[in-house]
Amino acid sequence: MRIAPSILSADFSRLAADIEKVQAAGAHQLHLDVMDGHYVPNLTFGPMLVEAVRRSTNLPLDVHLMIEDADRWVATYVEAGADMVAVHPDTLYHPHLTLTAIRELGKKAGIALNPGLALSSIEALLPLVDYAIVMSVNPGWGGQSFIEGSFERARALRDMATAAGHELSIEIDGGMNASRVGPAARAGIDVVIAGSAVFKADDPSAVVSAMLAAAGD
Ligand code: DX5
Ligand code: ZN
Repeated sequence: MRIAPSILSADFSRLAADIEKVQAAGAHQLHLDVMDGHYVPNLTFGPMLVEAVRRSTNLPLDVHLMIEDADRWVATYVEAGADMVAVHPDTLYHPHLTLTAIRELGKKAGIALNPGLALSSIEALLPLVDYAIVMSVNPGWGGQSFIEGSFERARALRDMATAAGHELSIEIDGGMNASRVGPAARAGIDVVIAGSAVFKADDPSAVVSAMLAAAGD
């Protein structure tokens, strides 16, 4: 199990220090939520911030694009320092092409699956993806409640991928906290993304440690 704090809920006036804390606590990668005010109502940050985070840590950066026309932006985020780029396939006319482009840039390609998306609709994309983000909230904000049934969706995705002979990493995103890490592991999830549970806590590093302990590794 890998822990990926989402900086969406960090204190942006002291971002480097917040990142240093979770890195010291053993976080494996960082999750960066890019929102454009169109695909989702909220607006967050763009490549400049990703580039600044890149300079403040050597942790792998997982850039979660919640934007329209993601295909036009993939190369820019890779240049800014993304190691992994996830797109929502429902934002793209040609997700096959965009996922291929991410891999051709030498980075890990991911798909993010909204709670309402039929898993069968992405089966043909599985050979092109290194990871899938199962959304356990509707995308747009940190601090929302976990949608029940999301672990079962992750399990169904894991089973679908295994049956088709595809190995991929499965991340869960939204409403996660330390008490949900055990059930996540049992559902075949190998990356837990957590924003508010980590960064809104008095001691973010203690929460990361608790999550690692709950994962049992
Ligand atoms: C929601 C984002 C999440 C968000 C999770 O659109 O994709 O990554 O940061 O935040 P929490 O963990 O607070 O639900
Ligand atoms: Zn996210």
